Amino acid sequence: MKKIILTADRPTGKLHIGHYAGSLKNRVKLQNSGEYDKIFIMIADAQALTDNADNPEKVRQNIIEVALDYLSCGIDPQKSTILIQSQIPQLCELTFYYANLVTVSRLQRNPTVKSEIKMRNFEASIPVGFFTYPISQAADITAFDATTVPVGEDQKPMLEQTSEIVRKFNSVYGRTLVEPSILLPDNKASLRLPGTDGMAKMSKSLGNCIYLSDSADQIRKKVMGMFTDPDHLRVADPGKVDGNPVFIYLDAFSKQEHFDRYLPEYENLDALKNHYRRGGLGDVKVKKFLISVLEEELEPIRERRKIYEHDIPGVYDILKKGTEKALETASATMSRVKDAMKINYFEDRQFISEQIKKYSE
Ligand code: TRP
Repeated sequence: MKKIILTADRPTGKLHIGHYAGSLKNRVKLQNSGEYDKIFIMIADAQALTDNADNPEKVRQNIIEVALDYLSCGIDPQKSTILIQSQIPQLCELTFYYANLVTVSRLQRNPTVKSEIKMRNFEASIPVGFFTYPISQAADITAFDATTVPVGEDQKPMLEQTSEIVRKFNSVYGRTLVEPSILLPDNKASLRLPGTDGMAKMSKSLGNCIYLSDSADQIRKKVMGMFTDPDHLRVADPGKVDGNPVFIYLDAFSKQEHFDRYLPEYENLDALKNHYRRGGLGDVKVKKFLISVLEEELEPIRERRKIYEHDIPGVYDILKKGTEKALETASATMSRVKDAMKINYFEDRQFISEQIKKYSE
């Protein structure tokens, strides 16, 4: 069987280093591994509209931001197909039919939807489109016959829901759809980066994100202002490493070579952490190290971004070509689905000749 990747992001804001550590970096690695026959990376604007229906301008603006973020991180349009969700009508068609295979109570039990409803204060007035977006996500995944979906842990319930839909569809209509597997990031710290303020998640509204498009100066300021251990008041005080965002970022981004280059007096990250725990290591020194580490990772991204920013028509062309390519795959899947569901009236020659026979007798 072919190995096919599909993954996506909602274009509701610029991507930040949490997205990068949690998925983008891994996608580039997967792309360059040569192990996959096809890779689809989708800008999920239709899904973004499920909870931003009144703000289409925001979604529209962020399509190009997300595309620039992808390209500057090293997503290569020669190797990966970047597409825009709303331009693939088959995704709506599939969603409509899959919806018949899912119960309301099953959707109500979806943990991701549950927590998102809380987060958005939707409790009393959940938009139907938002409530059913796990079904549309199953359409996204199956339309491209994805075998592998590299996403963060928060998307696990979506993949479970997709698998259930696939099994149900295949058992009712015969083997048609491919059941996908989730591919979680391997570095534990990368699963979810906290905000610079120590809050559990980076979020635009909290203003605690480091963006991929931030300048070196912005990054320096953000890191210097980062929350650390509030009890680590003086350099001599012992400090907490667990839950300390500066160390969590180092867990996610620092490599041995960074120590050799910037902090040769420490053998590795464990040695640095031990010193911090013991006391005698100031926040400023750790933060300066983090700035160097982040800068090494983000500088090439920033440079590549500049090149694409100067060629916006070229970026739109990449999106258009990718979407056209994706459309071919999705429409092939749609014909298979229509055949299986017996809604292929005009294509099924045998059925038509049976009807002719039936009425001529
Ligand atoms: N729900 C995903 C998110 O919020 C985005 C998404 C939409 C997605 N469709 C998908 C992810 C299909 C993986 C596969 O990040």
